[in-house]
Amino acid sequence: MEAIYVKNIVKRYKNGVEALNGLSLTVKKGEIFSLLGQNGAGKSTLINILTTYLEPTSGTAKILGNDIYTETDAVRRNIACVAQKTSIDTYLSLKENMILQSKLYKIPKEEAEVRMKILISCFALERYLQYPVSSYSGGVKRRLDIALNLMSNPQILFLDEPTVGMDIQSLMVMWNMMKKIRDELGTTIFLTTHYLEEADDLSDTICIMRNGKEVVQGTPTELRELIKNNMLNIRFANKSEAISCFTELSEARNDIKLFLREEKILVHSKQSIEDLQAISQWLFERKIKFEGIEIVQPTLEDVFLRLTEVNELEEIV
Ligand SMILES: Nc1ncnc2c1ncn2[C@@H]1O[C@H](COP(=O)(O)OP(=O)(O)OP(=O)(O)O)[C@@H](O)[C@H]1O
Ligand SMILES: [Mg+2]
Repeated sequence: MEAIYVKNIVKRYKNGVEALNGLSLTVKKGEIFSLLGQNGAGKSTLINILTTYLEPTSGTAKILGNDIYTETDAVRRNIACVAQKTSIDTYLSLKENMILQSKLYKIPKEEAEVRMKILISCFALERYLQYPVSSYSGGVKRRLDIALNLMSNPQILFLDEPTVGMDIQSLMVMWNMMKKIRDELGTTIFLTTHYLEEADDLSDTICIMRNGKEVVQGTPTELRELIKNNMLNIRFANKSEAISCFTELSEARNDIKLFLREEKILVHSKQSIEDLQAISQWLFERKIKFEGIEIVQPTLEDVFLRLTEVNELEEIV
């Protein structure tokens, strides 16, 4: 059974915005799953639906086999969610926060004490004990917030942009914390992010979404293989020169896929050397001014941009 099963979820807000547009994905038990998408892609909307905070307009979603509509209580018992804004009470100490949380989930006192000790030692939080949370930095508060949400022993932990705005050191600590949650507590983690390096470093599975729908789901290696072919990069002095060449080249070579990115044209190429020769010759013959042309290796960022970029010219041509 999957940890999370989502099929054709649609969410239309009252103002008519269709935030999710028939999205489907599956999350395996015990994995770190990253949902990657630009601002407004619909990531938080999906988290709000899966955590039963929002109702979808249509579609099916199951958490550990329980339907989010008809088995809402069972769903809620198995999950915890750290939202974009922290929920931690800054006037209380970490221990007081943890006890409050265990009361909320009706966890017996002794069990709560044991759980608290495990979490504090697992995430090296000893030095933050006793002092009010208000005295800690944003990065530390986020980590405390996550530890707090693990008090109820959830099987699935939802994290909405857990590392946004963090410095590199806090980022490393946070990534290790997430791996420990998966490896030592066996918790499935579903997180959203804008950062590719984060998804790449952490995730067992990545789902890239755009405009309310999944574009692709796979391991970081599988995603990279999607465009394992090389690319040609043609650089121009400015964007308008790139656009004018883009239009002309698209007409001349409808057998190759072109992408316009700022003052560059990227060509996805199966035979990069032959294409390099043919396109250079084409540019010289037409006396088109350009700054340089070279063969480049695609990065995960290229995969992401290629799959998520809305390029007006591409849509026209
Ligand atoms: N309560 C709401 N009412 C109407 N529209 C909304 C509401 N919440 C979100 N939206 C719209 O739905 C779309 C998806 O928003 P959502 O917050 O899910 O995106 P996101 O991927 O989480 O973005 P970000 O990366 O900025 O957090 C956006 O166009 C947003 O403006
Ligand atoms: Mg969001």
